[in-house]
Amino acid sequence: MTTQPLLHPVRLGALELPNSVVMAPMTRARAHNAELAPTGLHATYYAQRAGAGLIVTEGTWVSPDAIGFIDVPGIYTDAQTAGWAKVTEAVHEAGGRIVSQLGHVGAASHPDHLGGRLPAGPSAVNPGEKSFTPSGPKDTLTPRAYTAAEIAGTIGDYRHAAENARRAGFDGVEIHAQGQHLIPQFLNPRLNRRTDAYGGSGEKRARFLLDILDAVGDVWGSDRVGVKMSPCWTSGTAFTADEETLAGYDQLLKKLNDSDLAYLHLLGTPGTIEERIALFSRYRAHHQGNIVANLGFTQALGNEILDHRIVDAVSFGAPFIANPDLVERFAQGHPLVDGDRDTYYAGHAEGYTDYPAFTAG
Ligand SMILES: Cc1cc2nc3c(=O)[nH]c(=O)nc-3n(C[C@H](O)[C@H](O)[C@H](O)COP(=O)(O)O)c2cc1C
Repeated sequence: MTTQPLLHPVRLGALELPNSVVMAPMTRARAHNAELAPTGLHATYYAQRAGAGLIVTEGTWVSPDAIGFIDVPGIYTDAQTAGWAKVTEAVHEAGGRIVSQLGHVGAASHPDHLGGRLPAGPSAVNPGEKSFTPSGPKDTLTPRAYTAAEIAGTIGDYRHAAENARRAGFDGVEIHAQGQHLIPQFLNPRLNRRTDAYGGSGEKRARFLLDILDAVGDVWGSDRVGVKMSPCWTSGTAFTADEETLAGYDQLLKKLNDSDLAYLHLLGTPGTIEERIALFSRYRAHHQGNIVANLGFTQALGNEILDHRIVDAVSFGAPFIANPDLVERFAQGHPLVDGDRDTYYAGHAEGYTDYPAFTAG
């Protein structure tokens, strides 16, 4: 049993993982306080999952403008940073490693999150998404286009958040460049119609991400910085995974070889092992750095893709919700339980910290 590849140690940049199982970032919306600070409940939740080779936190806001979902903690104030320090301390005490996922939803936010102000995006184009506001899901609006000064300010917000993550005792940071968030808005030619240094060619659309990586890398060293991306993402009216989109990501993955990152955390698509191998082989052909594979992996699929040596680690999201001891269950061949979907994105301790480790009988 101990020979399964998921249980092998792996090094991702400066991060030494005792096994190849990463806990994927998951928004759980448990910061029920005006400060949007993580609490003791968060510390308990993450410490329960310290058996992961690496924990990636839920996406946390880099500034008040970054907010796009209720009850999600930030990492831009001292109170939030102090809350995260309790989380990292608990995880480290339990023998784990944890990086902070830094996020910003840009145009996918809503005035209800921003004191009535219109969200900003790369250009004034509605991404056609939904934003989960205090009064329920609402359609996104046509955003304001970022000014050059706002772009510089937002890159500064990522730097500041990265500094707070250091103060909070994290082991590194992961940049949330997935789904409908701000960075993929910049990468997307349908949403980014800019004609300055941040729009036009694929290279210019990637500049926002690369500038953020420079800023965050200054704080951490690039070998403690990861990036999560979803080349095949389909959502709203702007995100479709056609061949043009994928070709753009091929170029970006190639370009990111120069950044010497700890890892790229890449979403695939649901499918058979053959389909997964084909897609991750495509990513691998363009990117020689560490790759963490994600989306819909089971223990068997994870072991198989690692066996093919296309990727370096595998991340699991939903399976960690109800199986805090997921790695131990993999090691011992214990069954997994399903989580309660009603408490994925809402609630308190129920469906969050009350899933026990496996016990026989
Ligand atoms: C409840 C929930 C919340 C999520 N929140 C985030 C998030 O904050 N940041 C992120 O990059 N991905 C987020 N995801 C996506 C997961 O990181 C992961 O990509 C996805 O669940 C697929 O992996 P899985 O099939 O192993 O669950 C979330 C997923 C779930 C189920």
